[in-house]
Amino acid sequence: MKLNRLTLFCYAVLLLSIFAVSHAGVTSSYVRVSEPSEEMPLETFPPPAGLNAPEQVHITQGDHSGRGMIISWVTPLNVDDGSNIVRYWNADTDGSEKMSAVASTSTYRYYDYTSGYLHHATIKGLEYDTKYFYELGTGRSIRQFNFMTPPKVGPDVAYTFGVIGDLGQTYASNQTLYNYMSNPKGQAVLFAGDLSYADDHPNHDQRKWDSYGRFVEPSAAYQPWIWAAGNHEIDYAQSLGETQPFKPYMNRYHVPYRASQSTSPLWYSIKRASAYIIVLSSYSAYDKYTPQNSWLQDELKKVNRSETPWLIVLVHAPWYNSNNYHYMEGESMRVTFEPWFVENKVDIVFAGHVHAYERSERVSNIKYNITDGMSTPVKDQSAPVYITIGDGGNIEGIANSYTEPQPSYSAFREASFGHAMLEIKNRTHAHYTWHRNKDDEPIIADAIWLKNRYYLPEEETT
Ligand SMILES: *[C@@H]1O[C@H](CO)[C@@H](O)[C@H](O)[C@H]1NC(C)=O
Ligand SMILES: *[C@@H]1O[C@H](CO)[C@@H](O)[C@H](O)[C@H]1NC(C)=O
Ligand SMILES: *[C@@H]1O[C@H](CO)[C@@H](O)[C@H](O)[C@H]1NC(C)=O
Ligand SMILES: *[C@@H]1O[C@H](CO)[C@@H](O)[C@H](O)[C@H]1NC(C)=O
Ligand SMILES: [Fe+2]
Repeated sequence: MKLNRLTLFCYAVLLLSIFAVSHAGVTSSYVRVSEPSEEMPLETFPPPAGLNAPEQVHITQGDHSGRGMIISWVTPLNVDDGSNIVRYWNADTDGSEKMSAVASTSTYRYYDYTSGYLHHATIKGLEYDTKYFYELGTGRSIRQFNFMTPPKVGPDVAYTFGVIGDLGQTYASNQTLYNYMSNPKGQAVLFAGDLSYADDHPNHDQRKWDSYGRFVEPSAAYQPWIWAAGNHEIDYAQSLGETQPFKPYMNRYHVPYRASQSTSPLWYSIKRASAYIIVLSSYSAYDKYTPQNSWLQDELKKVNRSETPWLIVLVHAPWYNSNNYHYMEGESMRVTFEPWFVENKVDIVFAGHVHAYERSERVSNIKYNITDGMSTPVKDQSAPVYITIGDGGNIEGIANSYTEPQPSYSAFREASFGHAMLEIKNRTHAHYTWHRNKDDEPIIADAIWLKNRYYLPEEETT
């Protein structure tokens, strides 16, 4: 009872604060007692029963346009019994004629840990907008899953993405995941980096990568998660003799980087429905003359807005972030790439890293040169909206300290855990909402109708 009244009070304060500052950015006054982000113990996620049962199943788009799927799973043994094969069939058939694909299988060692057998199989030539069943394992250990392929790429194809970042595996992470899953609209997840947080444990406890794989399986085995790498994927630990950056991540999570002529799984692109998604790496070189820089330069020229009106970028470290945590860590990449984003009218940039939520105005800061002193962001209708969605709920807790006063580029900010939904309706309109964990999923804490920068570059209001 008391709690309910407190909640009501918080809503009232939030509403008042929105009205009071209708022309400036909003710092939500919805402040909850910050809870410890306690990690779910390893025992929460035992391996599935059965001899050599497939586990940690996850899928992601397997080609450039959505007719392929990469199916990934882990088995404890590498026996020659077909446990490296995925069988799949169109759900409209009775499954008597199954197609199959053979995985590439590998293991890796990290300090005192040896991984299970990591299988990745790419299925190609799928039909668009079609449900498929797939099956892994052998004998009594067979496990069955399913997924929907996206509709054929086209300018007015409606499609809904969930957006999650910095998830980790705490009880709060569990709330984020299950809140997202309870929303039937989500068809694929854009993941803004920082997956398992294994590196926050002694010796980068690699068993935490296994438990993370089991934790996200209820969603990631059924719809593609589009992965970007964050700093917690680097796993660089000289003191442990582990000096190959991104080793666990790149062994466990495969992405279709070659399909976009990328030379690294850390940056790549896909087309899905009416969206063109570019994934970048904050923790790989991006200055002029580097592979990522050259790739992005060529990549932006390939985007055909008549085919995919929505140009969306996924990167870990935010460029516009008014939280005190990780303040300006994305700055050098912003300076490098921002002029290209404005020139190419990128619609939205999703970032993670900061464990809170923030949405920017459409601003740019590209006039500045070292002598002119013009280093202030200005409103710019060719610029993306920058969204920080590092509020998945990981072990490091909430980032609840903001720079004051709220800078003019910041439209809305709140230190709570949650996830977002991006509902693309057609070539001009997309409805974007942010859902905090403590609310029921239908409650929307932040919302805006986004207008496409190529087809309808008008100013938006919340
Ligand atoms: C995770 O959330 C789901 C849905 O609320 C719940 O059923 C499950 O028990 C939670 N898991 C843990 C370990 O708390
Ligand atoms: C862009 O896409 C449209 C629609 O699919 C197509 O007609 C056009 O040829 C494409 N343009 C280029 C340069 O490929
Ligand atoms: C830097 O800005 C100054 C002042 O606007 C301008 O005169 C100068 O040409 C600029 N330099 C470059 C390299 O753009
Ligand atoms: C695009 O979607 C928006 C929002 O649903 C709608 O108002 C608008 O009429 C649609 N445009 C077209 C051309 O259908
Ligand atoms: Fe991070």
